[in-house]
Amino acid sequence: MNVLSVENLSKTFTIHSLAGKQINGFRDVSFKVAEGESLALSGPSGTGKSSVLKCIYGTYLASTGVASYYSQRYGKVDLTRLSEYERIQLRLDEIGYVTQFLKIMPRVSTVDTVAEPLIRKGVSREKARKSARTILERLNIPCTHLDAFPVTFSGGEQQRVNIARAIIGKPYLLLLDEPTASLDEGSINIVIELLNEIRTQGTSMIMILHDKTILSALAETIYPMKRATNIPN
Ligand SMILES: Nc1ncnc2c1ncn2[C@@H]1O[C@H](COP(=O)(O)OP(=O)(O)OP(=O)(O)O)[C@@H](O)[C@H]1O
Ligand SMILES: [Mg+2]
Repeated sequence: MNVLSVENLSKTFTIHSLAGKQINGFRDVSFKVAEGESLALSGPSGTGKSSVLKCIYGTYLASTGVASYYSQRYGKVDLTRLSEYERIQLRLDEIGYVTQFLKIMPRVSTVDTVAEPLIRKGVSREKARKSARTILERLNIPCTHLDAFPVTFSGGEQQRVNIARAIIGKPYLLLLDEPTASLDEGSINIVIELLNEIRTQGTSMIMILHDKTILSALAETIYPMKRATNIPN
């Protein structure tokens, strides 16, 4: 079964500070993602890979097209036309998004940062914190860091906390934008292992990865993004 079916999705940005000039983010993107499938968006810088993920997650409003998603809670919905309430619920329960950088919650410990999505899902605080510790230990976050605030962590440590937080609740659909960009080889291998584990448990993924080795270890399907010509004034 397809979890997501993207059809003729396009995004045009209107730059108000440039007298309404229009910039093409991407044009006519269509692909399907089955349950447990991982698809990679590939293509040169500026072809709209990140913007596609943002349209699916709802950070950007798509200009045309649909993104039909089979929600466990709502059934078939178009992710480009959700109500604010549905979007929040889906982000809490079903759709995860790993950006290149961790959005750090001030004065929340590493364990609590990672445990929070599980607690929101109704898992007891004690159980959620235990799962968070297990996953952080697997990602080689030093135990001295677990009760500290991640704000002072190195880029690679923050990125691993970011990944742990996104995968702990085993989302139904996971969007990953260059999740391994600031990681060393050892950490990359662990991330590959963890992502492949949740994939075999049914998580579908759309990812952006530049490294060919990581790409071949994680992605089953590759969707090539083409450069959209910009709109003349
Ligand atoms: N919020 C925005 N406002 C205006 N233009 C934008 C915005 N976001 C993206 N763009 C433009 O859309 C195009 C695609 O950008 P996007 O970041 O999606 O590319 P990308 O393929 O992810 O590139 P990279 O590989 O460098 O991350 C670029 O020309 C970019 O300048
Ligand atoms: Mg990008």
